Amino acid sequence: MSGQAASASFDAGTKVFRLDGGGVSYVFGVNQKGELQQLYWGGRLGAADAFPSARALPEWASFDSSYSNTPQEYAGWGAGLFNEPALKVSFADGNRDLVLHYESHTAQPNGFDVVLKDISRPIFVTLHYAIDPESGILARSAIIENRGAEAVTVEQAAAAAWALPAGRYSLNYLTGRWAGEWTLNQEPVLHGARVIESRRGSTGHQANPWFAIQAGDTNEDHGSVWFGALAWSGSWRITVEQDQLDAVRVTGGFNPFDFGFVLHPGERLETPVFYGGYAANGLGGASRLLHRFELEHILPRTAATAGQALPKPRPVIYNSWEATEFNVNEAGQMALAEKAAALGIDRFVMDDGWFGQRKDDHAGLGDWYVNAEKFPHGLKPLIDKVHALGMDFGLWVEPEMVNPDSDLYRKHPDWALHFPGRPESEQRNQLVLNLARPDVRAYVLGFLDKILTENDIAFLKWDYNRNWSEPGWEQLPAAEQKRVYVEFTRNLYSILAELRQKHPNVEIESCSGGGGRVDLGILRYTDEVWPSDNTDPFDRLTQQDGFTYAYSPQVMMAWVTDSPHWLNKRTTSLEYRMLSSMQGSLGIGANITKWSDEETATAKRLIAAYHQVQTTIVQGNLYRLISPRNGSEFSATQTVRPDKSQSVVFAFIHSTQEGRLFPTLKLRGLDPAAEYTLTPIQGKARMGTPEVASGAWWMNHGLDMDTEFRGDFQAAAFRLNRK
Ligand code: GLA
Repeated sequence: MSGQAASASFDAGTKVFRLDGGGVSYVFGVNQKGELQQLYWGGRLGAADAFPSARALPEWASFDSSYSNTPQEYAGWGAGLFNEPALKVSFADGNRDLVLHYESHTAQPNGFDVVLKDISRPIFVTLHYAIDPESGILARSAIIENRGAEAVTVEQAAAAAWALPAGRYSLNYLTGRWAGEWTLNQEPVLHGARVIESRRGSTGHQANPWFAIQAGDTNEDHGSVWFGALAWSGSWRITVEQDQLDAVRVTGGFNPFDFGFVLHPGERLETPVFYGGYAANGLGGASRLLHRFELEHILPRTAATAGQALPKPRPVIYNSWEATEFNVNEAGQMALAEKAAALGIDRFVMDDGWFGQRKDDHAGLGDWYVNAEKFPHGLKPLIDKVHALGMDFGLWVEPEMVNPDSDLYRKHPDWALHFPGRPESEQRNQLVLNLARPDVRAYVLGFLDKILTENDIAFLKWDYNRNWSEPGWEQLPAAEQKRVYVEFTRNLYSILAELRQKHPNVEIESCSGGGGRVDLGILRYTDEVWPSDNTDPFDRLTQQDGFTYAYSPQVMMAWVTDSPHWLNKRTTSLEYRMLSSMQGSLGIGANITKWSDEETATAKRLIAAYHQVQTTIVQGNLYRLISPRNGSEFSATQTVRPDKSQSVVFAFIHSTQEGRLFPTLKLRGLDPAAEYTLTPIQGKARMGTPEVASGAWWMNHGLDMDTEFRGDFQAAAFRLNRK
């Protein structure tokens, strides 16, 4: 559906707003009471189709009010609202009733700003709507403004509420834990509420701020899917509820748990953006839309890619963490760098251990000077060596943290989040700095700027290895301390933005002990993410599958590490490990100085092959052909360049049972009339498979694997190039 223009219209007679973009229409209007009511969200309607005025739904007997039953765009808690409110406030006089009615609107690029106001008090809410012309993905957010003379406490503020008509639906959402992120859950939407959230101060490994709701028997390839992603890296909540009349609402924004934002007269609170989209072609279609939107509209650009439609594919990196852990030093890193360069690596990244008195995880966080024992001449000799070997250099930092055993903590014990007189709970022997404080913000920005100014650094791996406890902010009046939930994350974003502006070529990875801070908020400022500390190549297949429902393979860093794997003690071949990681943005994280000549040659060959097809893999249209989930014996993915000139296929056997052959892979998304040449990257096609055949042949007849493609942890990959 791409190529269709966006349009945004308002019919003054019916008071109906209509947004069209890609294959999507989104319609809402002002009803007879003045409430802003959702009317339609789904496939694009005819340009001449007109909607009648919105009519509030009636009450259901005397128990469910019209106010509750009507799918409001942004309902204030008041007037007998029993569903999840978008906004809940408390006034200084004890009044907590808030009823928002339409006030005015202004046209904005591809959308509107619609202003609502409480029926009697000067609380104004500006709802922002913008639809992407290509994907039809909507960006929605709200600004809450107190134009009264007294302070008002915002107790709950959503970015947006989405509504679907009464029906039978399933919900998809992602959950996990450290080393076990990206589990895709699929369950029916039932009456009551399903809450997915983080109360941790950051996005969290345990749930991710993304959802997809599918109608009836929708699957990977067919049917209607409504999806959304919240762009916020602090505590968040998305509530999916089927209401008393079987309609579905999805409300998401700041997590109301322990929330309270005091708006003084004249102050405003801006919510995060909640993106929402619709696809008519299943969960696969939904994720392809989201991937393209992320590449084109969310991910930052560097000086080198400024103004370009797409960010550049990630350099193939080497990272020292699993090889050395904290035992980094000049000679050891140089030896790794030499070997990395010989493999064809583009970027060498030194991980944890280079700074302060950092010998293990007990000390050093907060002291961002180079450890003179490990690097007696500073970082320059290592960086120069890495450059001389033809790679650029990246460095690990964990800016928001402090070890109590550090000079920083000894000097500023009050900088860590804490409640005075209460214990400070350590995790991994560290505390979280209160980044909401202006002095802490200045310190963090200052040392990062200094490191980037004094050293030729192309990349920061920005880590964040614990969640919050005792989130006090004693400098503020008691009633205002909960601002920390908003200001911390805002300062994080503003530091990232300022660093990128001052150092426009630097690229940044968002890591949080793996995938603990992955969301569309942080991805506006970071070029890639670390999905999981779990680098087991078999576990990664399922994790990567789950990850791609919400996020593009471009940002999905995947390292090849040593076998047997430290977590599962599983032994796998280097070819299998390489192909598992080649499904995303490839890195090597093994102790490569110990690799045999044969292993070195295999990695070198596959890195070279990866370089040839990487753009297709990370920026193409992804088809999840066979899911690795639910104990599947096999899995397979295929990506196709948007211009259909190249496609890459990956096939994995988890463990052959009863001698079963790998299923025929009916390829997708090719040009049926064009001829494609099949080239193996690893493994073989079945004897008799044509080297050249039409897109129609590969899609209808399909691709068969060699009959000897059997066993445990086997992998094959192929490239198809249009002739
Ligand atoms: C986290 C990261 C790892 C590594 C360590 C270093 O766990 O996810 O990749 O950087 O910290 O301490």
